[in-house]
Amino acid sequence: MSRRFGIKSRKEVERFRRPCAFPYNMTDPIQKQWEDNAEAFSDLIAGAGTPHHKDILNPCVEELLGDVKGKCLLDAGCGEGYLARYYTKKGAEVVAIDISSSLIETSKTITNNEGLGVDYRVGDVCHMESIPNQTFDIVLSNLVLLNIPCLDDALKEYNRVLKAGGYLVFSIVHPAFNFYGPGTWKMGEKNPDTNRREGLFFKVDNYFDEKEYNQYWRTRGGERFPVPISFFHRTLSTYLNSLVMNGFNLIDFREPLPINNDPFFDRERRIPFFAVFKARKI
Ligand SMILES: C[S@@+](CC[C@H](N)C(=O)[O-])C[C@H]1O[C@@H](n2cnc3c(N)ncnc32)[C@H](O)[C@@H]1O
Repeated sequence: MSRRFGIKSRKEVERFRRPCAFPYNMTDPIQKQWEDNAEAFSDLIAGAGTPHHKDILNPCVEELLGDVKGKCLLDAGCGEGYLARYYTKKGAEVVAIDISSSLIETSKTITNNEGLGVDYRVGDVCHMESIPNQTFDIVLSNLVLLNIPCLDDALKEYNRVLKAGGYLVFSIVHPAFNFYGPGTWKMGEKNPDTNRREGLFFKVDNYFDEKEYNQYWRTRGGERFPVPISFFHRTLSTYLNSLVMNGFNLIDFREPLPINNDPFFDRERRIPFFAVFKARKI
């Protein structure tokens, strides 16, 4: 990590590191957003994720996780739990935590119906007091940290609950090319084959302006979610330096491409949609 990024010591890292832009305050409104959107979110995920998840993100995450058989895995911010179930089927012993009790209830129901065993808990990943130190071989936090006001608190907790040498794999929507942040596509005409508008170019501005954005998601049918969701835009250097400061070595970083040549993903073949990090607890 240090050599790759030209940073020599922790002290030096501290100098480059921005202070946490969003001091931890897991206010009820953020929890409420996920409660209010729980049903719409579960429908969107539909047990397997959206095409972006299935054909871009998930294969990359799976590759970085490696063989999970017999491993203790924490799914931190599990949502409706499809990854918790998937990695349980792959032989991991999974604990899954989410701040939304509705999403946890949905996850439990689906998991029971499938005859699987996942230890679900309602809770805040920044304060996992119910989980002892050094419990897990792997922490997976898929598309969660961009929804959390204080990155450092979450990474500190992930580090605490990992065994020495354990791995953290986390993903975010790529912050440099992110419409929940500094950028947006300039759109052209709708392509009748894909039913998506052509991307003319992606414009980026104010990348360094770390702040909260509120966005409505849409269901598969195109309807707006009941309430907007909070996103916290941070630079890549903030993520990387926060890993270093919280006791991790970065061992892999990916900007995954679609796994197929589907014309639907024309835009996602031109700029990365996701960023995926694998880090080892020091
Ligand atoms: C974009 S969803 C991702 C869910 C799941 N990891 C997936 O890949 O489908 C973000 C999830 O993070 C959860 N979340 C947000 N803040 C949280 C917190 N502080 N602690 C635990 N979960 C949180 C939300 O309830 C939501 O389920």
